[in-house]
Amino acid sequence: MTHGKEIIPTPYYKYDMRLLDETLSRISDELRPYNNYHLHYAVKANTNPDVLKRIAAQGFGADCVSGGEIRAALAAGFPANSISYAGVGKADWEIRLALEAGIECFNVESIAELEIIAEIATELNMVAPVCFRINPDVGAHTHANITTGMAENKFGIAKEDMVKVIRMAEQMPAIKCIGLHFHIGSQILDMQDFLDLALRINELQDQLDEAGIETLPIINVGGGLGVDYDDPDKHPFADFHSYFSTYTDNLRLRSGQQVIFELGRAVVAQIGQLVTRVLYVKEGTVKKFVIVDAGMTELIRPALYDAKHHIVNVTAEQRGDAVLEKYDVVGPICESSDVFATDLLLPHTQRGDIISIASAGAYGETMASQYNCRPLPKVVLEW
Ligand code: LLP
Repeated sequence: MTHGKEIIPTPYYKYDMRLLDETLSRISDELRPYNNYHLHYAVKANTNPDVLKRIAAQGFGADCVSGGEIRAALAAGFPANSISYAGVGKADWEIRLALEAGIECFNVESIAELEIIAEIATELNMVAPVCFRINPDVGAHTHANITTGMAENKFGIAKEDMVKVIRMAEQMPAIKCIGLHFHIGSQILDMQDFLDLALRINELQDQLDEAGIETLPIINVGGGLGVDYDDPDKHPFADFHSYFSTYTDNLRLRSGQQVIFELGRAVVAQIGQLVTRVLYVKEGTVKKFVIVDAGMTELIRPALYDAKHHIVNVTAEQRGDAVLEKYDVVGPICESSDVFATDLLLPHTQRGDIISIASAGAYGETMASQYNCRPLPKVVLEW
């Protein structure tokens, strides 16, 4: 204890629950006029139980990619019939768990998977509701590691095979085909990419009509809306209006169709910061390194995707240090990619300073690892 204030051991994640609430109400406000458009929060972005509970309480559904995520979503109060389950490699136990829970649908990515779902559903004397994930062959202007909708990707069924696969499913008594699923990538800021997807979906729906396939009740357009990592203070909310209206204005729906959005990052990225402390300032021959106590084990995005997160030396700002110096901000992990920023201008930085790494609410804590025998990061909620 110092100055009567408890010092929380760093590193830890801090989530701003009021910002989460505000984000959720903005999404609800945007979607309110459209009663056939729904949000399924992509649980993989942040699975903190309190975060999940708030999102469930707002009436949103959940997009899960594993049995563990389905369990977490159910525990947080998402109704089973608002849960969709995606992923290229669903294990038998996960399929069984999803069927027994009574989820809304499986997003199926291959015929091989469809056959196993049918087999397990038959065994359980159930009918499995499925949407087919179609690869729309639409490019997304984002990092190659988070692009998923191009033809050569591992995700989804080729659009040329769509009619064939649906016809095949129609012959399976244990399968009920209820929709189409798409997802083109993540951290997308160019609305043109979403427009391309909406127009491609219109084309595919026309093909289904021509083939005489009955209207499918669900069109799931996936997620992918990006956030402002450069200036999170100026833009704490993603551009929900442009994103949703790209679909509401351009999708040609058939009567009775429901649209599902699977946003993850845009819901939670800006609510989180990774709080870390400076261990050492090391003067190299050409560079100065700020060595902090968080590393790629807590936040892997910079190492994995070259992601840039806004970094602030909170203590130096409080001290009023105005002179800027150039630093590389690095973690303690034994990997050369354990770097948060290079040549970053920060106020004069000292051992013990608190550094905040912003926009870390999505794919931060959920991607943490225990490499180097490090404990998983702690979380502090700010209400
Ligand atoms: N739906 C599907 C089928 C997905 O694969 C994903 C994300 C989403 C929805 C949610 O996408 P979002 O709205 O969050 O962009 N770890 C990476 C991002 C990986 C995204 C994986 N799939 C990162 O930190 O940038």
